[in-house]
Amino acid sequence: MPRRAFLARVGGTGAALGAATLGYRAVDQGVLATGTGTAYAPWADFADRSGLEALVAGAILAANAHNSQPWSFDVQPDRIDVIADRSRLLGAIDPLTRESVVSLGCAIENLALTARAEGFAPQLTYQPDRSQPDWAARITLVAAPADRSDLYRMIPDRHTNRSGYTSTRIDPGLLEDIAGLGELDGVKVRWLMGSDADRYGELLVAATETLIADPEQSAASAEWFRHSWDEIQARRDGITLDAQGMSILRTAIAKMLPAGSRERNDNYWLMALRDTQVATAAAYGIVLVPDSAAAESRLIGGRTLQRIHLAATANGIALQHMNQITERADRELQLGLSPTFGDALEELSGGDALQPLVAFRVGYSNREARPSPRRAVGDVIV
Ligand SMILES: Cc1cc2nc3c(=O)[nH]c(=O)nc-3n(C[C@H](O)[C@H](O)[C@H](O)COP(=O)(O)O)c2cc1C
Repeated sequence: MPRRAFLARVGGTGAALGAATLGYRAVDQGVLATGTGTAYAPWADFADRSGLEALVAGAILAANAHNSQPWSFDVQPDRIDVIADRSRLLGAIDPLTRESVVSLGCAIENLALTARAEGFAPQLTYQPDRSQPDWAARITLVAAPADRSDLYRMIPDRHTNRSGYTSTRIDPGLLEDIAGLGELDGVKVRWLMGSDADRYGELLVAATETLIADPEQSAASAEWFRHSWDEIQARRDGITLDAQGMSILRTAIAKMLPAGSRERNDNYWLMALRDTQVATAAAYGIVLVPDSAAAESRLIGGRTLQRIHLAATANGIALQHMNQITERADRELQLGLSPTFGDALEELSGGDALQPLVAFRVGYSNREARPSPRRAVGDVIV
């Protein structure tokens, strides 16, 4: 999904551009301004927030599909309601809204960790009123001793890392420890290594090929790419070139060149996924839940996903979410297609009664991941 490499901008037209044009583009695209401007302020501001505002400031830094930030928050003195923002659903790329609901779960986890750090014991109720399906959760706040946990401390340092990873193997014991830190009630993380990981990588490539051959899915994904500095600062969401895991030089060149066609971008995305991301994955993790179609499973699975990402960050491990297989499986269900990736998913659950919800790769990286933009706290409180 939001991992198109934008590499299509590198090459081809470059030689034709004059120095003056490049100078103009450098300013227009914020070439040297990686991670700066108000769109990125929520990352630095988090440490300065306190009280209930801090809880929302933590929530919005969570991982979320396509950086769509599909949330809003109703803040009252003794509780916060987390509500889905339907205007931010992803359409054909997430046809059964799996990823949007998981994203709400990620935000809920950051909110709960920040609540504990701010001296509250958060009590969670999922879907408090089923006649209002967008009302994802109520978090009731009761005073308690402040607990600034290790996972809480990682909130502003966690970013999705799409770079190539090193060949250093991750100790399986460490992966089990990370799963232990992340797993919440009824949710499990299954690690794929060796030949299982190879098989998973092949499936990811095949799913991505199928996805980019589906014009509606490809277009739904492309809608979230933000191409210019102005667009990023105005919209404060979506996927940027800075977050693609490329070197500083390559990122700067890509920013200065005109955006490629959707087809070209898709082909470069596939190439980066196959030749860099899948080729260097040390292992994959799959979050397994009791019922991947049920909102509660998705929310608890999202909380677990966020905890895993924070725990990986605390241990110096890079993580990239990779969900093309479920995106295709859900698309098959939506359109009544034969379940090629749906069947593969069943196989991936490893005979477990639990069902695959979301997945990611892990590894060690020499390249620090850069932050993605976020809307302001004031923009998401209703
Ligand atoms: C449910 C979910 C699905 C995601 N799927 C992908 C994916 O398939 N590929 C990818 O590169 N990133 C994926 N992401 C990562 C988001 O794009 C990322 O969290 C978002 O852009 C914000 O960036 P940050 O995590 O660095 O803060 C996913 C995140 C979530 C929560």
